[in-house]
Amino acid sequence: MADGWGQYSVEHLEISRAKGFANPALLGKVYEAFLPVAGPVRVLDVACGTGFFTRMLAGIPGAQVAGMDIDPALLAAAEELAQQAGLPIRFVQGDMGHLPFEDGAFDVVTSHIVLEVFDDKAAVLREMQRVCRPGGWVCAMEPVYTAYTTWVPGLTDAENRALNLYMTAGRSMGAAVEVPDAMHRIGLAEVETIGWFWGGAVRNGWRNARRLDAMKREAEQGFADALTADEGAQLTAALDLLKERSDQALPDDLGISGMPVLITKGRVK
Ligand SMILES: C[S@@+](CC[C@H](N)C(=O)[O-])C[C@H]1O[C@@H](n2cnc3c(N)ncnc32)[C@H](O)[C@@H]1O
Repeated sequence: MADGWGQYSVEHLEISRAKGFANPALLGKVYEAFLPVAGPVRVLDVACGTGFFTRMLAGIPGAQVAGMDIDPALLAAAEELAQQAGLPIRFVQGDMGHLPFEDGAFDVVTSHIVLEVFDDKAAVLREMQRVCRPGGWVCAMEPVYTAYTTWVPGLTDAENRALNLYMTAGRSMGAAVEVPDAMHRIGLAEVETIGWFWGGAVRNGWRNARRLDAMKREAEQGFADALTADEGAQLTAALDLLKERSDQALPDDLGISGMPVLITKGRVK
């Protein structure tokens, strides 16, 4: 099995995607023009999770879409959600390290927010390239976590700064900026990147004591190397302050949070 992450909850994937990409039809139009995927085109979405982006692709006229993931629970949810949406998507279980498809079986092969967890991104992209026909497109979307910004009106500046530190500490520009180079290295042609945005107005969900405890543990254990001592102390203090206030009946303010995502394509020779 290739390395990668496991254990995503259905709720997390669906809620975070719906919050961050509130208008999937609009993003679908971007894919339709960028790749392009309209017409009788066979599309594979690898590591599809609950299929948020797979359904978006299946909404493009003429696209015949398949989704693949390693996690059977996520695939079961993906099947159900596609059925509810009336979209004829085929879901298959498999490992990104060895895609269970013939060479050249698809016209377009996409991935969304998954390459970040693979050390060898070129190896995964090479598998995507293998199952894509010559002249077809391999395409990957990855977020730029270091640019994550959140601002919640009900919080103090220090609390808002702490949330931004928490979201960006220890993160790297990672896959988003590595993908174009990896695509060049494996011999894809016409490599091109466009930007999109994950985010918008969100409800203030930060006043949850359990979540704040988990954040604090993560900050203490995981971010030790990523933050200066001052930043670490600032983050811990701000999380404590947020927790202190989490029991108060505070307004469920609207805030803003988000980050850029980069979508990169390369053509199979
Ligand atoms: C961050 S989620 C992204 C899911 C979906 N693309 C989305 O953006 O909503 C990462 C996904 O990669 C899947 N995954 C992790 N390692 C994998 C592997 N080796 N082969 C196939 N899928 C894998 C996980 O099960 C999970 O669904």
